[in-house]
Amino acid sequence: MSSANRELGFTLSDPAFWARTDQADAFKLLRDQAPVSWHEEIPSAWFPEGGRGFWSVVRHAEVTTVSKDQETFTSGFGTEIVDMTPEEQLTFGGMLNMHAPQHAKYRAIVNRVLTPRTVEAMSEDIDRQAIAAINRVAEKGSADFVDDIVGDYPAQIIGDLLSVPEEDRAKLIDLTVTALSAYGTQHAYSAYLEIIDYALELIDDVRTSGHDDNFLGKLLTAEVDGESMSDKDIAIFFALLLTAGIETTASTLATGFYGLSLNPERRIELQNNYEALAPAAIEELIRWVSPVKHFRRTATKDVELGGQKIKSGDKVVMWYNSANRDATVFDNPDVLMFNREQNPHVGFGGGGPHFCLGAVLARKEATVFLRRLFQILPDIEVSGPAEFAQSNFVNAVTKLPVSFSTAQRLVI
Ligand code: HEM
Repeated sequence: MSSANRELGFTLSDPAFWARTDQADAFKLLRDQAPVSWHEEIPSAWFPEGGRGFWSVVRHAEVTTVSKDQETFTSGFGTEIVDMTPEEQLTFGGMLNMHAPQHAKYRAIVNRVLTPRTVEAMSEDIDRQAIAAINRVAEKGSADFVDDIVGDYPAQIIGDLLSVPEEDRAKLIDLTVTALSAYGTQHAYSAYLEIIDYALELIDDVRTSGHDDNFLGKLLTAEVDGESMSDKDIAIFFALLLTAGIETTASTLATGFYGLSLNPERRIELQNNYEALAPAAIEELIRWVSPVKHFRRTATKDVELGGQKIKSGDKVVMWYNSANRDATVFDNPDVLMFNREQNPHVGFGGGGPHFCLGAVLARKEATVFLRRLFQILPDIEVSGPAEFAQSNFVNAVTKLPVSFSTAQRLVI
């Protein structure tokens, strides 16, 4: 078995790899020399017991192949690198960790409720939240883009979607941050379980108050082929929406703004012609940022991929950050370009049944936010060094100092 550990001198399971500043070069090396490579899972601060190792898939072609072929590469044994028990997979992922046909059943039900029309109907809420987020700093002249400007914007929108009472939101956001940042620890799992318990109470309230015209109420009554979701299923889905929909969108905006600061011509172009360029620009920012670095599959049979023999039961990890820099698909992949003829990025996944359910909402949130940002703070610029998350899962700036001419708060 060819092992990147031995041949290239690193393993993607090592937290030290994710502190390196030349990660992009390492992925380029893998794309050129080892498109499908074996990585031992060494014991580390992240996973003290280590693991049984995994295949890394780094080129666009194989990432989309794996993603689209659930029969051979299933999500049903978990989508995080670390192995979980079947019960943990269901609790900490729900439909994300399901195999067809169970997945298809759940997806069909939630697709009835989270539709493009649902998102369109939220337009005013989203705009109101964007203005509120930017207004918070408008009179200050400087801020941290991550904490002070983007702040809780995506979380408030999910809170609106799920009709979470205002007074509960701060606690729920805290729990979500813990569930995500303490990744893999007991602390994270406890926070996740607390979110599920909270959701069960909220679902109960919705049922007893008869508010079945809101999102949770619609989920309670949605049926496909006579099947519906139980309260527990809906509570798990509630937790999935929070954990999947907050940090990803926040990173698209903050890391995306950092990307624009590195490409000032693109920034000016976008700002001067926002409505025409925004759709292409948002896709390109998602490609360039790749907010989610990976998800995992498990081979259901022996199969050959990228010249390697993968055994039934092996873990296969798709690196979206790498596929999104594949020069055979994207010209000048490191550069932001808003005029790509095609942009088949895998930021929302490589296609197939688990493609991001929140893509329409995420695009809308990003479009509305940047429109209001350029309107309220047109000369906002990065004013200090950016800091980045040391993570194998999220690409995100964690600190981004910015300055701008003080502005009036926008009142509409
Ligand atoms: C730019 C922001 C976002 C990015 C980059 C992103 C990325 C992804 C990716 C890569 C997957 C594929 C998982 C897989 O194949 O195993 C996914 C799935 C998912 N996303 Fe997103 N996401 C974003 C925003 C959102 C939002 C706002 C929501 C919720 C409102 C959301 C909800 C979900 C759900 C529920 C799934 C699981 C779908 C399934 O298993 O069928 N995402 N997302």
